[in-house]
Amino acid sequence: MGKENYFWHKLHSLTGIIPVGFYVVQHLTLNTFAFAGAEKYDAVILFFEGVPPQILWFLKIFVIFLPLVFHAIYGMFIVSRSEGNYSQAAYKFRENRYYTLQRLSGMFLFFFLIFHYITMPIQNVLHGPENTVMYKNWAAYLLSFGGLPLLMYVLGITSAAYHLAYGIWNFCIRWGITISEQSQMRMGRFSFGAFIAISGLGIVSLVGFFWAPLAPKAKTVEARISQPALPNHEINYGR
Ligand code: HEM
Ligand code: HEM
Repeated sequence: MGKENYFWHKLHSLTGIIPVGFYVVQHLTLNTFAFAGAEKYDAVILFFEGVPPQILWFLKIFVIFLPLVFHAIYGMFIVSRSEGNYSQAAYKFRENRYYTLQRLSGMFLFFFLIFHYITMPIQNVLHGPENTVMYKNWAAYLLSFGGLPLLMYVLGITSAAYHLAYGIWNFCIRWGITISEQSQMRMGRFSFGAFIAISGLGIVSLVGFFWAPLAPKAKTVEARISQPALPNHEINYGR
């Protein structure tokens, strides 16, 4: 391997953790606000809509999009060069299965992310959050086309969780963080926990679009009657 390859491979490895891995964890964490209902989820969407556009677009392009495109394209290049060995009887080791699965999850994520960009951020820019990304649109959208979007999200979430969790384990070996067999086993247990936790964040978010048990309870009819609505022209500041 030439020097340049070494550099790009290391950069690819680093971008998997920072910023891409970090972004995915924070993104799935914020999506869990769906479990707290429409008001809370939409508050997250509106928070980002409220960030000054110059800062928001700088972050979207330079911190999220470009590192992701680099990681995805160089990742596909790595996959195209790797020689799969798990299909051969002599190489049916657990480690080879994990390794093969990480490449498969990377390939799936490539297509999932194209689908996700086209159906979410791009639709948001074209048609506004009200008609696209806000809570009220999600349940019907996920069940459209016979539930195909829901299936894509379940697979996208679990693939990202697996790819990142295995990636953390591999990253620690590649960068010399876990050297002994014992530390690699300990990291393996951590990665398994990370896979369950990250998948959980995404699945809880999806459930939240259909059933939001943490949503603030609507006021009872009596409470609403005893607090008559103000006439339209009165502005209700600070109540
Ligand atoms: C519960 C599942 C998910 C939901 C509800 C969700 C929701 C959203 C929404 C609404 C947007 C558009 C934000 C905007 O336009 O401001 C978005 C963008 C994005 N999502 Fe997801 N997403 C989910 C899962 C994922 C997964 C698994 C990944 C990674 C594999 C991912 C990666 C991204 C990326 C890279 C963007 C573009 C960020 C931007 O430019 O603002 N999402 N997502
Ligand atoms: C978009 C499509 C993607 C493709 C094609 C892809 C491909 C790959 C490949 C082939 C590797 C293994 C590199 C090696 O062992 O030499 C890898 C590693 C990694 N990827 Fe991805 N990936 C993608 C998306 C993602 C996403 C969304 C995340 C974060 C959730 C991520 C996080 C990581 C991490 C942490 C590593 C481990 C780095 C290492 O081995 O040192 N990747 N990726």
